[in-house]
Amino acid sequence: MAESASTGERVRVRVPGKINLALCVGPRRPDGFHDLATVFQSVSLADELTATPAPAGVVTVEVAGADAALVGPAEDNLAVRAARLLAATYAPDAGAHLQIVKGIPVAGGMAGGSADAAAALLACDRLWGLDVGTEALLDLAARLGSDVPFTAMGGTAVGHGRGERLRPVRVDHVFHWVLVTSGTGLSTPAVFRRFDELHPPQDVADPQIPDGLLEALQAGDPVALAATLRNDLAEPALDLRPDLGATLGAGTELGALGGLLSGSGPTCAFLAADAEHARALADGFRTRGVGRDIHVVEAPGSIGFPHAGRG
Ligand code: C5P
Repeated sequence: MAESASTGERVRVRVPGKINLALCVGPRRPDGFHDLATVFQSVSLADELTATPAPAGVVTVEVAGADAALVGPAEDNLAVRAARLLAATYAPDAGAHLQIVKGIPVAGGMAGGSADAAAALLACDRLWGLDVGTEALLDLAARLGSDVPFTAMGGTAVGHGRGERLRPVRVDHVFHWVLVTSGTGLSTPAVFRRFDELHPPQDVADPQIPDGLLEALQAGDPVALAATLRNDLAEPALDLRPDLGATLGAGTELGALGGLLSGSGPTCAFLAADAEHARALADGFRTRGVGRDIHVVEAPGSIGFPHAGRG
């Protein structure tokens, strides 16, 4: 957990995006969410958020970076909601200006909005000198969205519940991935809705982490890991966006060890044998003109809390 900072400072936090190595979806619950068994892993694409003091009750946001134009209005920004929730709970007289530099694709299934919310919680906690503690911050994170607790924590974790119940997993090996983004986003609720239409609840089993996945991660074995990758949202996402089938097919043709949709998509993630293989795959995607942007990343990427720093 990061140290507290006194009011009046500038606090900068880098928070990475994620992929789900497995996203196994259970039946829809009475609250509308789905129970998940998932394995989250951070990747080395991060957003950077800087918080500076603002008058009491004022929370503003400015967004820059590659995908800034795709980010919605400030009132809908999850980082603003996070700062307001923290203030409402612990510091009603606090205010903050938030500056976000996007490195994570927007609306890509990589938890970019969730990462910004996690960054806002941590940065404002320090800016306002609250030091509310990891448990309390993770609690607020879960209220903001299913992926926010993981993006606050980073690294690798098994997620249950709606994704907010986390068990960190130690992984000492680095895996090499190529991420292929799409020009158009996909709505997470729409993908889950299509999942429900395709799978009546009585046909959906309780979700389980695929056998061998955690062992492959811990052994640092990308071939074994590729054989265990699974995303139950791929079917409904491809139903809504059949063009993503061509992206996934291109990965197979180019020799990726495995490929899958990231979260609810539309970003697709392809596992490579090593860094050189990842660069070759990326060149292949670029030559074919597949996708919007191609990113070569490492996973697990840098983690959230320990990367908080005063800038
Ligand atoms: O929690 P979050 O705000 O990210 O969820 C967005 C939407 O995705 C939810 O409103 C719900 O429709 C769907 N969802 C779900 N089951 C989950 C996580 C998200 O149905 N475990």
